[in-house]
Amino acid sequence: MTEGLRAFITGLPKAELHLHLEGTLEPELMFALAARNGVALPYASVDEARAAYEFTDLQSFLDLYYAGCAVLVTEQDFYDLTRAYLDRAAAESVRHVEPFFDPQTHTARGIPFSVAADGILRALADGERIHGITSKLIMAFLRDQPAESAGAALEEARVHGERIAGVGLDSAEVGHPPEGFAEVFAEARRRGYRVVAHAGEEGPPEYITGALDVLGAERIDHGVRCLEDPALTRRLVDERIPLTVCPLSNVRLRVVPDMASHPLERLIEAGLMVTVNSDDPAYFGGYLVDNYLAAAEAFGLTKDVLVALAENSFAASFLGGADKIARIAEVHAYAASAEAL
Ligand code: ADE
Ligand code: ZN
Repeated sequence: MTEGLRAFITGLPKAELHLHLEGTLEPELMFALAARNGVALPYASVDEARAAYEFTDLQSFLDLYYAGCAVLVTEQDFYDLTRAYLDRAAAESVRHVEPFFDPQTHTARGIPFSVAADGILRALADGERIHGITSKLIMAFLRDQPAESAGAALEEARVHGERIAGVGLDSAEVGHPPEGFAEVFAEARRRGYRVVAHAGEEGPPEYITGALDVLGAERIDHGVRCLEDPALTRRLVDERIPLTVCPLSNVRLRVVPDMASHPLERLIEAGLMVTVNSDDPAYFGGYLVDNYLAAAEAFGLTKDVLVALAENSFAASFLGGADKIARIAEVHAYAASAEAL
């Protein structure tokens, strides 16, 4: 049964809307890049690195995630990172991806914005040419750094024009509400960027409201804590604001104690526009198929619900209308042709 379910999910055309490229850095590549760049790692082996991935909360993960970024030095490193993710995604029938990168994490280490962006964008172009995976790149501002630093990143993005499609907000959430980033997001919107923000992962429902009203977020990353506020939940349903939910991440970062307690099913039942995503798959033990499968097994999700989640992933994307329609038709053609579960 599980193998049949895994095969069905693997073949299901999907979009990935919440994926940090730096969070796809597998320990094997981390060691290869460390050797290539002469960077010392705090782990003796790949196994030791994996064994260290035991997190108690978001911050305990971010500490290792930012430390791992030290191996990303050259344009080729960012290309290799992104290309490795795309090769895996292609094998999982990911047709479209809107990945994040954290430019400030790299500029703070003396790596120019464009070294990161050029490597990532070259791999995304190859991903489309080789695998047919379309993409919209999002630069995420670090909410635990000053807004001026986010503003500097916004300026550095200018030379890349529309090749960077959106802005987001990530890193340590609690104590860093959206309000401090009102101006930089307003400027980003004026410049035509699409807007998303992490909110309601560890932070309270008020941060979701702030992301919508102060930042102009069109999509909420995580958002799982919205259920604590019925009026906010109704608003998200009425306005069809998509949530990019990451089940394995929430368990690994102890937002919820286990998958059985995850709110995914309650979010769907509330009528919310839910999508399933992998966040930082190299650190959380699973890519997109693993996230769909973990949810399907925990809640006994039917084939129809899995198809609806895949449809939502395209509907909630920043693809144009005609592309959305074509991808959603592909989802339904697959569902019709796949054997019943
Ligand atoms: N950066 C990378 N992954 C993140 C997450 N899950 N929440 C906030 N910031 C992040
Ligand atoms: Zn995230």
